[in-house]
Amino acid sequence: MKRTLLLFIICSAPRATAQTPARATTGGVYSAPQAERGRVAYAGFCRSCHSPASHSGTTFEKIWKGKTLGDLFGYLTAQMPKNDPGSLNPDQYADVMAYLLKMNALPAGKIELPADSAQLASIRIELPAKKNTAPRAHPTTRKKGA
Ligand code: HEC
Repeated sequence: MKRTLLLFIICSAPRATAQTPARATTGGVYSAPQAERGRVAYAGFCRSCHSPASHSGTTFEKIWKGKTLGDLFGYLTAQMPKNDPGSLNPDQYADVMAYLLKMNALPAGKIELPADSAQLASIRIELPAKKNTAPRAHPTTRKKGA
């Protein structure tokens, strides 16, 4: 068991820099198609109680910043949907998480988020540096009372 783990570490982290949990959500940890699948799943399973606004901006930042995607994955799989926890399959949870990252303006990359708590635990939740905190006034898309 120990030997397998050591082998794994040697194989997967040949460079010294790879030893720290260097990955963060700002580094393109999900793929665009995955977030799109997540959007569809979210519409079906989450939207009845949540709006994207409840998972982005300061709300999301306050709860999740500095935690890991493993924490978020654990929370979602254990607690959500509130009325039927654990009812999605692990891949769907990973997809929904990708969508949550997208909502938070985090960049997509080439790889998908794995539906694996251990791997997800090595990805820290960081948010994009704020360019301008004023509400983005998109004259064409601004909705009244939304
Ligand atoms: C039946 C209503 C309901 C559904 C459906 C639901 N949630 Fe929730 N969710 C809640 C409530 C209520 C809370 C507040 C915490 C609590 O009461 O446990 C919450 C809290 C959360 C939180 C933590 C607070 C935050 O904004 O970070 C996340 C993340 C979340 N839900 C994600 C989801 C996702 C993803 C889905 C779909 C897979 C989902 N929820 C489906 C009711 C729901």
